[in-house]
Amino acid sequence: MSSAHYQALEPQTSDEDNEDIERRPHQKRPRCTAAAAPPHPMVRKGSVGGGRRRCVLPLVGGTLFFIAFCYLTLSGDTRIALGLGGASEDSEEASHQGLDSMNFRPLNESLHVCSENFEDHRKFMQDKPRSDYEQLPVIYFVTPTYPRREQIPELTRLAHTLLHVPRLHWLVADDQEKCNGYMDTLLNRFGIPYTHMVSPMPSKFRNEKPAPRGVANRRAALQWLRQHNLTNGILYFGDDDNTYDLRLFTEIRKTQRVSMFPVGLIADYGVSGPVVRKGKVVAFLDSWVAGRRWPVDMAGFAVSLEYMAQYPYVNMPYKPGYEEDLFLRSIGLKMDQIEPRGNNCTEILVWHTQTKSKKLGMVRLESKYLDDRSNLGALLLNLKLMGVAGTTENEGRNALISKNGREKSHSAILS
Ligand SMILES: *[C@@H]1O[C@H](CO)[C@@H](O)[C@H](O)[C@H]1NC(C)=O
Repeated sequence: MSSAHYQALEPQTSDEDNEDIERRPHQKRPRCTAAAAPPHPMVRKGSVGGGRRRCVLPLVGGTLFFIAFCYLTLSGDTRIALGLGGASEDSEEASHQGLDSMNFRPLNESLHVCSENFEDHRKFMQDKPRSDYEQLPVIYFVTPTYPRREQIPELTRLAHTLLHVPRLHWLVADDQEKCNGYMDTLLNRFGIPYTHMVSPMPSKFRNEKPAPRGVANRRAALQWLRQHNLTNGILYFGDDDNTYDLRLFTEIRKTQRVSMFPVGLIADYGVSGPVVRKGKVVAFLDSWVAGRRWPVDMAGFAVSLEYMAQYPYVNMPYKPGYEEDLFLRSIGLKMDQIEPRGNNCTEILVWHTQTKSKKLGMVRLESKYLDDRSNLGALLLNLKLMGVAGTTENEGRNALISKNGREKSHSAILS
């Protein structure tokens, strides 16, 4: 079990990732000094023995000292992660608070807000006036999204869930360079307090397979929370295609530090979530472990901002598959701090539904007919702005237009 923990993380670790995972500058010490700070599992393995060629002699003594040092000082799970073994299951839980979180750098994202509204324009939620909810902590619901045919319908459906949820600020971060005016209008119309920002994935990651989707967006949202100095409220990462039970919001609003709950429709088991015994989270059920200490889905936890504010190095490195794990490590999570929700994790309050993706629709019509002689010009323009369908003059078959069951040429109807 020993090195699998660590090695599973390593092959996918690109140099870029290490920008985030590297130790803080003041923790870097000259190599080959006996007092070198114990390396952390998140730090590239190469850095443990990196000085070998440059200083062979001191290394012999240094190594022995170092091994002894590790045994005496490192927490159990660090030893396991380094492949040194010797820790029992239980001591794994006794890891130092913050040991993880020290190894991240603070976020430094540039933010581009497209539009924002802090006022709640809804009068009633769940049949009660807005004023009834004033005392509740705000849920910051972070939705990464990206341009595709299904984007606007997904956001519309999600909005209609969120419309029922009082005291919620919706952070919508779009994976593109430019603000989409159509989305501004859409978000504004719902009357839910929101922030619409653009946060494109850095180009160096675009060609990676798998690409770290949604990470730039969530990082931007984390930066926004930091910039607004929010230390009261709850953070939740809610993708645009999931299905949310309204009880989820009641449950996560109670979060003191970090709450967790099962997510339905995940991977091979159709579920991913904590194992709970006597009201405490003790382990996890998820069909993909891969060395993750916190093998949970992005939708399977919520974090109190008061708790998160204690960790200045909150981060989400660009590491596909490990986003949740590394984020939770960056906020120094400990097993015994986790609050199980959803009736001790027996109920599903969120589903990882996925919409079938199809390529853009294409309607072949002569553009001269896309004027105000009919609705089609405006309709197809709207669909274009939503990224759902485009028009063409010469590709594929002419658009089918019919009347009384008979196909007509569009000129016959539109001119
Ligand atoms: C969870 O389990 C614990 C221990 O069995 C119990 O005391 C507690 O009431 C349970 N919580 C809920 C919400 O059912």
